[in-house]
Amino acid sequence: MRVICVDNYEQMSQKAARMVASQTILKPDSVLGLATGSTPLGMYKELIKSYEAGHIDFEEIISFNLDEYYDLDKDNEQSYDYYMKTNFFNHINIKNENTNIPNGKADDILKEAMDYERKIRDAGGLDLQVLGIGRNGHIGFNEPDLKFEASTHMVRLDEQTIKDNSRFFDNVEDVPTKAISMGVKTIMHAKKIILLASGKEKADAIYEAIYGKITPNLPASVLQLHPDVVFIVDKEASSRLDVDKINKEFL
Ligand code: F6R
Repeated sequence: MRVICVDNYEQMSQKAARMVASQTILKPDSVLGLATGSTPLGMYKELIKSYEAGHIDFEEIISFNLDEYYDLDKDNEQSYDYYMKTNFFNHINIKNENTNIPNGKADDILKEAMDYERKIRDAGGLDLQVLGIGRNGHIGFNEPDLKFEASTHMVRLDEQTIKDNSRFFDNVEDVPTKAISMGVKTIMHAKKIILLASGKEKADAIYEAIYGKITPNLPASVLQLHPDVVFIVDKEASSRLDVDKINKEFL
């Protein structure tokens, strides 16, 4: 594991965008695993800038998103489908048919989950997975649990997650209580992983993910076992880490 501590959200976004950009340059038909939420918004903006400047190209890129709310229409402004189109896909030259987001409206969620896994495998697996982290240490929508959920599956969202995500909705009652999410095994099979975190509310989860026991109670802790994972954390999110020591140990 490598931990890169930066000053602020802008630096985190720039670093992450450079890593994703490098991946697309090194392998133009890369399979990218993408996240939603507040954290990667700056990274998407930076990637759009690089694309507009002609530095990167998404013509052959394939993407798989981590998750989608259950039973929300694609054109609902809170759906992750809508988020990805408005914040990223509509501004770059990725082919619509190469973008994949779990269908939270599928009649048969079990089949949807199995098909999603198969599609990722058929595409050759994830080359680079971008992650955010929940305050409770969730990755994707893999909430703290008694066991690691392996593959893409239906999730019941934690109260904490529902509360946190209610900032995007008019009322907390409008937040879906379920979602469909890649599993921990799906994420761990990615060849490379970058996890972004910004803000003091993420400091405990980041500390536990790096130094804590590896436990499904803090899903991100499993990343300690991944052979190629980079955390990019800003000052506030890294406030419980000994940054000098980390820079010596990991760099
Ligand atoms: C989003 C996702 C979640 C978020 C996490 C942090 O696709 O899978 O794990 O990354 O909830 O969300 P923000 O960035 O809004 O704090």
